[in-house]
Amino acid sequence: MNISIDFAPAQSQNYTVFIDALERLTLRGKVAIVTNPKVAGLHLASLLARIDADEVYVITVPDGESHKTLQNVEMILENLFMHRFDRNATLIAFGGGVVGDMTGFAAAIFQRGIRFIQIPTTLLSQVDASVGGKTGVNNRFGKNLIGAFHQPSAVYCQSEFLATLPAREFGAGVAEIVKMAVTFDADFVAYLENHPLSTPSHLREAIARSIAIKARVVAEDEKEAGVRAVLNYGHTFGHVIENETGYTAFLHGEAVAIGMRMANALAQKLGYLTQTECARIEKLLEQYGLLFRYPVQNPERFYNAFFLDKKSLNATITFIVPKSIGGYAIVKDAPKETVLEVLREFDR
Ligand code: GLY
Repeated sequence: MNISIDFAPAQSQNYTVFIDALERLTLRGKVAIVTNPKVAGLHLASLLARIDADEVYVITVPDGESHKTLQNVEMILENLFMHRFDRNATLIAFGGGVVGDMTGFAAAIFQRGIRFIQIPTTLLSQVDASVGGKTGVNNRFGKNLIGAFHQPSAVYCQSEFLATLPAREFGAGVAEIVKMAVTFDADFVAYLENHPLSTPSHLREAIARSIAIKARVVAEDEKEAGVRAVLNYGHTFGHVIENETGYTAFLHGEAVAIGMRMANALAQKLGYLTQTECARIEKLLEQYGLLFRYPVQNPERFYNAFFLDKKSLNATITFIVPKSIGGYAIVKDAPKETVLEVLREFDR
């Protein structure tokens, strides 16, 4: 199954997300595959065997969110200059979200922009990060504060690469699938409740449905002026959790899972979600080992950290909360005291 991202005229070029369709990749110009040592060890040979190009280079970046830095992007660029890449070149991001975000950013700024292809190897990057053209790096002020929108020219999602994924990484990807289902598609939530993702055909269906949601949202709102912000459900809280724990205690998707539960608690207080609906989402997260304890040590400090997030434009915080199951509300006026109550009570 292939899913196309069809932008309006005068926006970015359309492209296709291919699912289990990577047989041969014929590319003109020089090619650099950016990957990390883990993915290279497991899958690079199999990717190289499928690439048809005159010159193919491999650039390895360290694994992990703490390495998503300008220094590593600079290192990628240095390699491209050393090998005399020009504007006909293509970069291939071969790894998870960290590799994808850095490769995409390098492609966005190398000689003002060259082509790049996403070949995501984690569930999280297949269902979310590889589609939509968000690229960038972190710095000491927070996550993804430096970056650019730069759409890939194609995305190839291969289930073969997920076979070696550690269980925690798998769960982190499921969190983003749940995120998409809860806010956009009640039928998809019911599907997830009744079709365990340990079965390959169910997983494939869930990946395709998540990408279809993402494709629709991104095509409608490429630069996040409206509906794309809904993809940040769980992220406003989750980014603070990642920051408080130095990006080491939780994988991104795990922090998002905690963040979704905090957003659900807020949604309940604001009247958007019932106790029963909230319990349904918790049960789904529990099924995939995503009920982490995160007692907030200092609610006031946690609250203030929202303002470092680039999404907290002009000192207002935007919370995305579910509106029943399958819908969403974009809340810009949540009373501070209500949010603090959520944080104080979140002792689970
Ligand atoms: N991961 C959220 C987005 O792409 O907008």
